[in-house]
Amino acid sequence: MTLSLGPLLPVLILDDVESARSLAEALRDGGISQAEVTLRTPAALDALRVMASVGDLTVGAGTVLTCEQADASVEAGASFLVSPGWDPALAAYAGELGVPLIPGVATPSEALAARAAGCSQLKVFPISTLGGVAFIDALAAVFPDVTFVPSGGIRPEHAREYLSCPSVETICGSWMAPRALVAAGDFAAVTAASRAAVEAIA
Ligand code: 3PG
Repeated sequence: MTLSLGPLLPVLILDDVESARSLAEALRDGGISQAEVTLRTPAALDALRVMASVGDLTVGAGTVLTCEQADASVEAGASFLVSPGWDPALAAYAGELGVPLIPGVATPSEALAARAAGCSQLKVFPISTLGGVAFIDALAAVFPDVTFVPSGGIRPEHAREYLSCPSVETICGSWMAPRALVAAGDFAAVTAASRAAVEAIA
């Protein structure tokens, strides 16, 4: 199952549900059309539910570690799931739920297993530690039928370089909506950061 996402996928950490609607609107106003709400805080699922109800934003769940979390995410309105690593049981379960899963991989063996299980979009995490664009190029040479979603430690000034890889359609990161800005309720700054990110890859 493949999902068409835009080039920039903000990775979000929400500490309170009250921020959710304003955050969704701030991202949208900044020209972002998709977001990943990570299940790293108690507020995450409720925040996902609110964000998914705001129009013109495709919202997925990130940091999905278990089938129970996959269930809860879909129930809350997630259009896609992202996991930090490869788990065949989670992939099979996402298939049963009928929701696209972007599993994390960090080695060619994991990419091989994920591809064999039917995943055609693979998060490569944590990309800055794994070797950056050179690592993506090496994977792309042997997995030509897979697209890669690099994430983890990408600096905004490198966004364009990642997106110039033919096998990369989407990159992830927190720089479009840093946790501290969201927690401070500075949504104008989130819109500005998002807009700057969009302009930087244009
Ligand atoms: C992820 O889950 O993909 C990362 O937390 C995002 O990485 P970043 O915060 O370094 O951009």
